[in-house]
Amino acid sequence: MLTNKRILLIIGGGIAAFKSLDLIRRLRDQGASVTPVMTKAAEEFVTPLSTSALAAQKVYRDLFDLTDEAEMGHIELSRAADLVVVAPATADLMAKMAHGHANDLASTLLMATDKRVLIAPAMNVRMWEHPATQRNLAMLRGDGVLIAGPDEGNMACGEYGPGRMSEVLDIIAAIDAALGDGPMKGRHVIVTSGPTHEPIDPVRYIANRSSGAQGTALAAALRDLGARVSFVTGPASVPPPAGVDVIRVETAAQMAEAVAAAHPADAAIFAAAVADWRVENASGSKMKKDGSGTAPALEFAENPDILAGVAQMGEGRPKLVVGFAAETDDVVANATAKRARKSCDWIVANDVSPETGIMGGHENRIVLITDDGAEEWPRLPKDEVARWLASRIATALGAG
Ligand code: C5P
Repeated sequence: MLTNKRILLIIGGGIAAFKSLDLIRRLRDQGASVTPVMTKAAEEFVTPLSTSALAAQKVYRDLFDLTDEAEMGHIELSRAADLVVVAPATADLMAKMAHGHANDLASTLLMATDKRVLIAPAMNVRMWEHPATQRNLAMLRGDGVLIAGPDEGNMACGEYGPGRMSEVLDIIAAIDAALGDGPMKGRHVIVTSGPTHEPIDPVRYIANRSSGAQGTALAAALRDLGARVSFVTGPASVPPPAGVDVIRVETAAQMAEAVAAAHPADAAIFAAAVADWRVENASGSKMKKDGSGTAPALEFAENPDILAGVAQMGEGRPKLVVGFAAETDDVVANATAKRARKSCDWIVANDVSPETGIMGGHENRIVLITDDGAEEWPRLPKDEVARWLASRIATALGAG
């Protein structure tokens, strides 16, 4: 429920604006109050009258509306809310937000607010995939803006792909999470993610192909359920999610230290692809060819097994410790043996043979190994795998 929560809803000019009317209705059903703001373009899609009737409030439309200014200035309007929601967030609104424009009421409110902002992007698939939009999205994420969607599917323009505004119930779930009232409220989860880099010399390192996508999606899904997330990440190729505590590390040893410092936790999820070995004779200066034709020999030392360490820590052990197993053959047998060897509660196993396209890709097909045996999940987008896993984690902690 969103009882007494105040939502400032900015409606952008897109065909998805019609869904915003349903969003207003459902938010109010849940006890929230909704103050609507419409851009000029939004008025081409829904009328201020219907918006105002559903919200049971005045619709704010114009920066220079003196009556509005007399009643409530735009600064005050931007702050008299618990959350600012932009739905639909058009490519143009996202561009304005990313670059700090303030040339109409909506963009000015977005600049002036001191509250968290959640956007539900909606646009044609080409516009969504355009490098400019993706650049703006990354900037907005970096600024801590929360993003709901977009979904993939058939679009009003007849094309297929990502760009469709999230379903209203999903936007409400994201609003719920942003306001911190999810089932995992009060729980702390440590998530490791990404590859590690083990230096050979100051300019070279040993790494692996992990993008950090699955760990990032999992941290976001846990955050969306209201958990406090300590996100310990190696140098991943996807940006960390907003709204989590990000602890950046490079090596396995640094990751182990960061995890130790993040305790106590209710659960610890080890999605990172940690290097098993580090170069023991790493050079302090750049290694050079000496003309002899002999390659330098690297000596390796074993890294600490962070997962096993936490799973076997005795007092203070998180209630749920989850490991990941990236395998290329005998997935279930190897993962089951790994679960026993490391003493963790669950192993999330997947087949990362190159032909599966899983490592670095957008989808994952996992087998969840628990006390009850092996559960095969269908191939799903990594975001979806993350949501399923997060909800299983919540259930296991008695928070589901
Ligand atoms: O033994 P293996 O590397 O296959 O185990 C994978 C699981 O163990 C992953 O959950 C990974 O994050 C974790 N791990 C770790 N520390 C290591 C090696 C692996 O936490 N040094």
